[in-house]
Amino acid sequence: MITKPNILPTPIAPPLPEVYQIEVSSVCNFNCIMCPTQFFPRKDKTKFISLDLVKKIIDQGDLDASYFVELQMSGEPLLHPNIEEIIDIVKSTGVLVGMSTNGSMIAKKLEAIAKLDYLTVSIDSLSEYENIRKNGSKEILLENLEYLIGTAQKYNIVVDLQLVELEGWEKEKEKIEKMYGFFFNVRSVPNCYLPYFFSEINLPTSTELCLNPWLSVSIACNGNVTACCIAQGDDIQLGNLKEQTLREVWQGREIRSLRKEHLRKDYRPVCAKCYMRSPFLFHWNLYLQSIKRRY
Ligand SMILES: C[S@@+](CC[C@H](N)C(=O)[O-])C[C@H]1O[C@@H](n2cnc3c(N)ncnc32)[C@H](O)[C@@H]1O
Ligand code: SF4
Repeated sequence: MITKPNILPTPIAPPLPEVYQIEVSSVCNFNCIMCPTQFFPRKDKTKFISLDLVKKIIDQGDLDASYFVELQMSGEPLLHPNIEEIIDIVKSTGVLVGMSTNGSMIAKKLEAIAKLDYLTVSIDSLSEYENIRKNGSKEILLENLEYLIGTAQKYNIVVDLQLVELEGWEKEKEKIEKMYGFFFNVRSVPNCYLPYFFSEINLPTSTELCLNPWLSVSIACNGNVTACCIAQGDDIQLGNLKEQTLREVWQGREIRSLRKEHLRKDYRPVCAKCYMRSPFLFHWNLYLQSIKRRY
């Protein structure tokens, strides 16, 4: 008689993780009120990823297990002076490329945008746009969305207009859908940083096991390999791609301790406050929806 084990195995990591995000810029021309960047200061002040680092990442095969990479984390990606070249380099591997932008530079960077497979434009609100997306101009945003309609259709780019679920988001979503629902998908995401904004209130954080340490990483513009887009400061440094390959980082001491801590539920502060868990699953969802809309 075959006896079945009565426990599930612990997660097993593949030889190389999927890369969720490569941050091309850590600086921004906006100062949005709900932006997480304010909570994750870094010692290293690198503003933009270097072309040499992007080429090194590709040449050493760090994207070999990736199917769709987004060129963002903190900061505004379209500020990178060589954004078009970076998109070309990443796309040359066959990986699909996406990006989230604040939408302020769409008209100026249309040639780069035309090369993307997927784009999120962060809008959040039309009524309160300039109060939420500080330094932003609603007039420029609306002009840019007009340019984007033609470009997205011509180059078959899937575009999502995104709202973070701030007060009154439901009505704002309806408004945006009325204006742009014919051309773009409109979606909302939860405010993932509530425990940072309201630390005095004991907000629930997710208690599910996060699978990021077994499946996915994000790369900051200074080469730091971190677990995900939530840990975008110095809290988690699994290694650095300026000195290592991703395969080396993925076998390293830091990632192994992070996995052990997760299994013991002995979370670091940034993980203990996480409102999302396994952000790469969110990424998978985006990818699947984008495939469905495209074909
Ligand atoms: C930090 S931004 C960087 C990219 C770009 N500057 C932008 O605004 O789209 C990355 C993503 O985080 C989202 N975001 C900002 N604040 C958030 C929050 N509190 N909760 C969840 N997502 C947030 C933005 O809408 C954007 O899609
Ligand atoms: S535009 Fe993006 S990176 Fe810039 S402040 Fe707003 S959410 Fe943050």
